[in-house]
Amino acid sequence: MIITIDGPAGVGKTTISVAVADSLKVAYLDSGAMFRGLALVLGLDSWNWPRSRLLETLDGLQFSLTGIGRASTLLLNDKPLSEEIRTETIGVWASHLGKIDLVRDKLKKAQQDLGRRKDLLAEGRDMGTVIFPEADYKFFLEADPKERARRRWLQLKAMSVQADLAELVREMRLRDEQDRTRSIAPLVPAREAIILDTTSLTQQEVIEAIMSRIQ
Ligand code: DC
Repeated sequence: MIITIDGPAGVGKTTISVAVADSLKVAYLDSGAMFRGLALVLGLDSWNWPRSRLLETLDGLQFSLTGIGRASTLLLNDKPLSEEIRTETIGVWASHLGKIDLVRDKLKKAQQDLGRRKDLLAEGRDMGTVIFPEADYKFFLEADPKERARRRWLQLKAMSVQADLAELVREMRLRDEQDRTRSIAPLVPAREAIILDTTSLTQQEVIEAIMSRIQ
């Protein structure tokens, strides 16, 4: 079984996806964490590298996924990804990297390989459109940008990461623009996705809405 949950930054995909994966006892794939992991390892200047250098470096990086539900752990070269990937700055770098075809090809292959091996709840931007077009259930979450920035701010605060709300709104707009307008795999709902506007819903209400559709 494959379930996809796509949507813009800060919409609450991660918390909701983990809860749904946990209830369904399937592995949780955080595809954004893969882009963030690459951004942290490759660094900011990597999108100026010659293609041969980028390709060679990407060839030496392998993702794997262990556990199910809440216990799902994404590993990069056998090491769990660190919490360092969670800053908004790494999010912006990841969004830049997401425009590069070599990076998307690499991650597409890794994500589809994982989907062949286990039942998955896959979360990201293009899970229902490009990576798992045959998914059993597809969801697309939306929310007002200011509300998304506020949610992200609360999430970072809970992780003791300092963040400025106005700066988060700015970075989130930048990421939205990049993610929605890139030429490869832009952020759009899959045609058959169930679209949920979560602006005035609690996380529990969103989880229940998703679970009721699946059941
Ligand atoms: O979901 P996230 O905020 O952790 O994702 C970080 C960035 O990674 C996002 O702004 C764009 C990129 N990304 C992507 O291009 N495709 C995905 N499936 C997931 C993330």
